[in-house]
Amino acid sequence: MKVDGVSYRTIWPAADGAAVEVIDQTRLPFAFVIRRLTTVAEIAAAIRTMVVRGAPLIGAAAGYGMALACQADAADTNIDRAHTTLLATRPTAVNLKWALDRMRKGIRAAPPESRRREAYRTAALICDEDVAANRAIGEHGHALIDALWTKKRRQGRLNVLTHCNAGWLATVDWGTALAPVYRAHDAGVPVHVYVDETRPRNQGARLTAWELLKHGVPHTLIADNAGGHLLQHGAVDLVLVGTDRTTGSGDVANKIGTYLKALAASDNGVPFYVAAPSSSIDFGLDDGVRQIPIEERDARELTEIEGEVATGQTAVVRLAPHGSPALNVGFDVTPARLVTALITERGVCDASRAGLARLFPEATGSGA
Ligand code: MRU
Repeated sequence: MKVDGVSYRTIWPAADGAAVEVIDQTRLPFAFVIRRLTTVAEIAAAIRTMVVRGAPLIGAAAGYGMALACQADAADTNIDRAHTTLLATRPTAVNLKWALDRMRKGIRAAPPESRRREAYRTAALICDEDVAANRAIGEHGHALIDALWTKKRRQGRLNVLTHCNAGWLATVDWGTALAPVYRAHDAGVPVHVYVDETRPRNQGARLTAWELLKHGVPHTLIADNAGGHLLQHGAVDLVLVGTDRTTGSGDVANKIGTYLKALAASDNGVPFYVAAPSSSIDFGLDDGVRQIPIEERDARELTEIEGEVATGQTAVVRLAPHGSPALNVGFDVTPARLVTALITERGVCDASRAGLARLFPEATGSGA
């Protein structure tokens, strides 16, 4: 996507071949800063501190982390150590394990002298496949948006509500949930997006709003708790979110608060769609609530907040009394029954084992 006229992905190998470069998402929207990462430890820290974040981008970053590990030492023990270090960074997004396993398998299959090349090749392939998958999700989601727009007799505007950031910053490019929005907007559908601020890290206020502004998509920032009210009053035509891990039975883990949006959408008869590239589907799991590991992060993300002050500098201020304990759970699980459909790179399907088996027979054991 373009930032002030210049095309960017969120991650790319540095021109000198000695590093990986990323957009530092902890600095947005106040500053656009490119960070250079040169070691596995730096990649791991970037994932943990959310310099890079969003399920598909976490996977892509881990891929390049394995390539940097190979560059230092391509022996099996070092590859295994890098795999362990990177896997420990964040527990919920399954893209991380998916990318790490794929990288390790590819590297191990290569002879020692070509392991480094193979690692960079596979990391680049993971990135290119992510872009292609998201572009396809954009097409399939655009068709859904267009159908809703036609149903609305093409009157007024088409209101989407989204949670967190599942835009291009959360992926290598295009985004998952926002890919259909960009596609529909570019095709002339008057899409308007209600952006949940998404406490505590404010990915909606900081990242989604920034992305939509840069692309010229009309949007309105709302408090996380405003969604139910807007849904009750017919102000939302569809809810569209991403996912960090979707089970083979269609349960969806996504940023904390997603479940409440799904409940409110269901109560008001509003479709609730989840953009789910296959890299975020954990086909082996059945029960999302019990089986998906939910990340707990530092309570200070809840008790403090960062913003821009009048001088243009950023500052962190405290929001809660010293001494009050806080619980910072990062994700929740929306049961499949509340999901209208999944939008994957292969098309739209029911959030169910049968629905996924139709599109991914090879992954669900129903292939030839
Ligand atoms: O904690 P984050 O910012 O990594 O969480 C991101 C989300 O919850 C996204 O909705 C999800 O990763 C889907 S991204 C395309």
